[in-house]
Amino acid sequence: MPGTKLSIGIFRLLLQYIRWLPHRLGWVNHAAFILQLYEVRPTDIFLVSYPKSGNTWLRFIMAHMITGSTRQLSFEEVEKDVPDVYVSKDWIDEMPSPRFIKTHDALLSYFPKTIYIVRDYRDVLVSYYHYKIALKEFEGGFSSFIRSREITEPFGSWKEHVSKALQFSKDNSNRILFLRYEDMKINFEQTAYQLSAFTGLKKFKINRIKELTCFENLQQNETENGSEFRNRSGKNFFREGKCGTWKEFISTDDLKFIYADSELVSLLHQLNYQVEA
Ligand code: A3P
Repeated sequence: MPGTKLSIGIFRLLLQYIRWLPHRLGWVNHAAFILQLYEVRPTDIFLVSYPKSGNTWLRFIMAHMITGSTRQLSFEEVEKDVPDVYVSKDWIDEMPSPRFIKTHDALLSYFPKTIYIVRDYRDVLVSYYHYKIALKEFEGGFSSFIRSREITEPFGSWKEHVSKALQFSKDNSNRILFLRYEDMKINFEQTAYQLSAFTGLKKFKINRIKELTCFENLQQNETENGSEFRNRSGKNFFREGKCGTWKEFISTDDLKFIYADSELVSLLHQLNYQVEA
């Protein structure tokens, strides 16, 4: 109900205002304050990524690992098992531990444990562009899209988001699992073992999860059962699910614009993404 949602929103804002001083005094966990949650628990695991990096795929995988379910899960079920911090704050506050929480906010050192997923920035841009076009949140060509920072950087720049997580993983390797979307596609089993070792979840069947969460199945599931994105745009959220499609999509001039940022190029190299001279 829109009225109820609005009152809850106002209540949360008020609560945030009241918690400002305790937060400044260090009595309220910084991450809880930023994400507007009641608390951050020591057992919490955050699934963090820049938008369009494969977070939904990861959430489906985690939901299967948590529940041990061997049937296709719905979006609603995944939202219960691995809630989105922007969608289900009330549920997150009452959820039993250990909680798995999805966020696009940049990593905070106050997160007890983090699973971070990164994807080639150029594929992220292409995916994000189609997403925004489908939702009619952007109208125009790709060239103007990549130059519209207010559209492409609601969570800060990709470069800052990713470098923060990369640095954190160098300093605190036991508190973060750093995954590449491309590696998940090439070697799903290895990713599943890494996730199991990091989270302690063991009651699941890797091959079944691989099958149920493969791109084709998730896309078919969405086509048959719908999703909020599909209701709003008439298009599939699970769009292409490929690596390297930027090569056919991004013009030489736009690549020049992207590569003008030498720090970004250096970060792409560090993450093993090829950048031609
Ligand atoms: P494309 O738009 O390139 O297809 P996020 O969930 O972080 O917003 O990321 C969305 C991107 O991940 C979309 O990319 C989506 O298709 C892709 N994706 C989702 N599930 C996937 C899967 N099982 N395998 C590969 N890619 C997947």
